[in-house]
Amino acid sequence: MNILVTGGAGYIGSHVCVELLMLGYKVIVIDNLSNSYINALHGVNKIVNIKLNFDLKKHTNFTFVKVDIREIEHVEKIFSSQKIDAVIHLAGLKSVRESVENPEKYYLNNVNGSINLINVMKKFKCKSIVFSSSATVYGNAKETPINESAQVMPTNPYGENKRDIEKELKNLFDLDKTWRIAILRFFNPIGVHKSGFIGENPCDTPNNLMPYILKVASGDLEILNIFGDDYDTHDGTGVRDYIHVMDLVSGHIMALKVLIKKSQIMTVNLGTGIGYSVLDVVKAFEKVSKQKVSFKVLGRRDGDVATSYSDPAFAKQALNWKAKYNLEEMCHDSWNYYLKK
Ligand code: NAD
Ligand code: WQD
Repeated sequence: MNILVTGGAGYIGSHVCVELLMLGYKVIVIDNLSNSYINALHGVNKIVNIKLNFDLKKHTNFTFVKVDIREIEHVEKIFSSQKIDAVIHLAGLKSVRESVENPEKYYLNNVNGSINLINVMKKFKCKSIVFSSSATVYGNAKETPINESAQVMPTNPYGENKRDIEKELKNLFDLDKTWRIAILRFFNPIGVHKSGFIGENPCDTPNNLMPYILKVASGDLEILNIFGDDYDTHDGTGVRDYIHVMDLVSGHIMALKVLIKKSQIMTVNLGTGIGYSVLDVVKAFEKVSKQKVSFKVLGRRDGDVATSYSDPAFAKQALNWKAKYNLEEMCHDSWNYYLKK
């Protein structure tokens, strides 16, 4: 089967490529490299030992083409070069803060880009797509754990983009029930592939917790700022559902397998169902890395919620999928990658 992975040079995309190639799928990656480096795909090549090809005409197992999903004619070239059986759509900008500063950039890139992609898929009768949505669509959920029927009420433009793309996909299915669509709502992915050859390597400054912890543990940054310790949580710091990226990857593979069986649309949380606080993560990280992570407590970060973790029951039912890595493994693998960089 030929799988097109948009955003395949990114953090999650490069990990998805590893597993697809290991399982014998043929992989075509498109990415505009706006938040990634081609090195990630060389890392994939190192893990799976399958040569990376840059020429669409050579129909090898692993191909990369630098394409922006907003450029319809370039996306069409990919689909006309060979039959694409399914798309794993991960291309997108993902900084909540940047989306607040520049909502138009985010709309054009994420929503218009996705609509372009869908239109090309329609034209070439490729009707299977696994889409990377986010727990961010739930915003300030009224109840935790959060299940898929919780109200969607994003609190920032990035989350609104995900909601809008989800809506496009739902409209598509309403009009044509032969589509096969999996909307996967990821919680907080951390961790990397065990080899340490690929990881999270963004072009912009990260503002997520794990990249910060790594920089403090390694001495690149002096101190971790903890955003608030007065939340209604077990230790006052924010609680999240951290999920190992390799668990996310297996969720994608299971989704592909389910879509192959029958046309449908499904919306599925990918999380562990366990909430850890910022201090829990710091402690777990210190334990496995044997490094001190100095921190100080600041006020709450704008837009943060106290608690967000998934109800993973539907993922088990719909995909026969369950996360298997624990927090210490996630911290261990992230640190291993950082040390190897
Ligand atoms: P990432 O930035 O590492 O990967 C995204 C990739 O998409 C990058 O390689 C980037 O260069 C590429 N890209 C962006 N705009 C593009 C465009 N117009 N055309 C072609 N390529 C483009 O991010 P990631 O963490 O791997 O996230 C992948 C997807 O999962 C994103 O859609 C993100 O919104 C979603 N997601 C991520 C998280 C997270 O915390 N990492 C959580 C939930 C959902
Ligand atoms: C986790 C916890 C912070 C940094 C974001 C996006 C979400 C999704 C995942 C894409 C919170 C605290 C953090 C720091 C801290 N991405 N923190 N000091 O905000 O849950 O989710 O990434 O879809 O859309 O919003 O993740 O890693 O930024 O924060 O105290 O320097 O760590 O307050 O409680 P978040 P995060």
